[in-house]
Amino acid sequence: MTDQPRIAALLAAQPKNHSLAQPFYTDHGLYQADLDRIWYRDWIFAASTAELPKPGAYVTLQLGAYPVVVVRGADGEVRAFHNVCRHRGQRLCSKPSGQAAKLVCPYHQWTYETDGRLLWARDMGPDFDTSNHGLKPLHCATTAGMVFICLADVAPDFAPVRTAADRYTAPHRPEDLKIAHQSRIVENGNWKLVLENNRECYHCAGAHPALCRTFNDDPDLVGSDDSLSSPVGAAHVNRCEDAGLPSRYVISPDENWRLVRIPFVGDAVSYTMDGKAAAPLLPGMPFANAGSLLFFHYPNTWNHFLSDHVLTFRVLPISPTETEVVTTWLVHKDAVEGRDYDLNRLTEVWLATNDEDRRVVEENQAGINSPAYEPGPYSAKQESGVIQFIDWYLAALARETAGPARIAAE
Ligand code: FES
Ligand SMILES: [Fe+2]
Repeated sequence: MTDQPRIAALLAAQPKNHSLAQPFYTDHGLYQADLDRIWYRDWIFAASTAELPKPGAYVTLQLGAYPVVVVRGADGEVRAFHNVCRHRGQRLCSKPSGQAAKLVCPYHQWTYETDGRLLWARDMGPDFDTSNHGLKPLHCATTAGMVFICLADVAPDFAPVRTAADRYTAPHRPEDLKIAHQSRIVENGNWKLVLENNRECYHCAGAHPALCRTFNDDPDLVGSDDSLSSPVGAAHVNRCEDAGLPSRYVISPDENWRLVRIPFVGDAVSYTMDGKAAAPLLPGMPFANAGSLLFFHYPNTWNHFLSDHVLTFRVLPISPTETEVVTTWLVHKDAVEGRDYDLNRLTEVWLATNDEDRRVVEENQAGINSPAYEPGPYSAKQESGVIQFIDWYLAALARETAGPARIAAE
């Protein structure tokens, strides 16, 4: 249960355009409210479709209190289920990912089809009805080669983001990508500090020497602006649009997702130390110098679609002060490591950047834990993206609670 009057008082006391009051980053009651009102209600990025290349491939994740399994069925459909056996509740799949013809519970071997139906349960008697004991489904939808899930009884309309993200990412052929590398780190910081840090580049010059070789930290490009106020940004958008690459800034009405294509520094084409491509040009891209298509979807993902590879980021809260960040590097499915791309060259900039951001977030959390911490002002010029995220967050937290009141099998 969340403490409604206390949360309402904290929301009312929160100064505009300032970092949040300490409890938002530290408190268990607020953390539970974040889960109930945001994480259990909104669409959450779970996995790349490339992680589920064939029937029976599955990925598991822990979404707050809920273990979830995402699996590609024999019919090719990707579905999501509560990862809980309908017999006595064993967690069905315990590995982070795997491949299985059927989902077999390790406890007493109840056996489920990859579409969730219970196929077999030994010695349950003549009156036992397998059709009443299928896995409980979650909402599941795909766009841009990314699988999103939603725990709520009634999911928000996914059609607008699917329409836009499919169109913007189509030239990158997201369904023809494969996983080149994946990293998982745990940051000792609240999930909102991870998102806040992502939404500004005020810190980039000081924190990210490798990233800043290619990533343009102009706040007009990376903040909440539409990038057109930057002459370089406007020229890039126009050049890409003329070549058939959807690039113009678009944001949803409630500002929980956004797409825009921004240029790299100079003539760089990829996130590498020398700015040159790390992998073969993706078929469908008209030229290498296409910058980065940025796609964020709150609360848990930001992504970069480049001309030669794609980077996805999945953020999941573990506790008030722990957050998991999974980064996935994707290249065209025909690219061969060692021949067409070098893994170190492909990954070194963002492996370093992630580690630098982890340290920033952890030091941020350490300071916020102090009784001496008080909310400080955001820079309107440099931190407009953070202001946009925090405004979205505060509005989302103020919504009526609408988590999964009823979790039924279909
Ligand atoms: S708990 Fe799964 S088969 Fe018994
Ligand atoms: Fe950063």
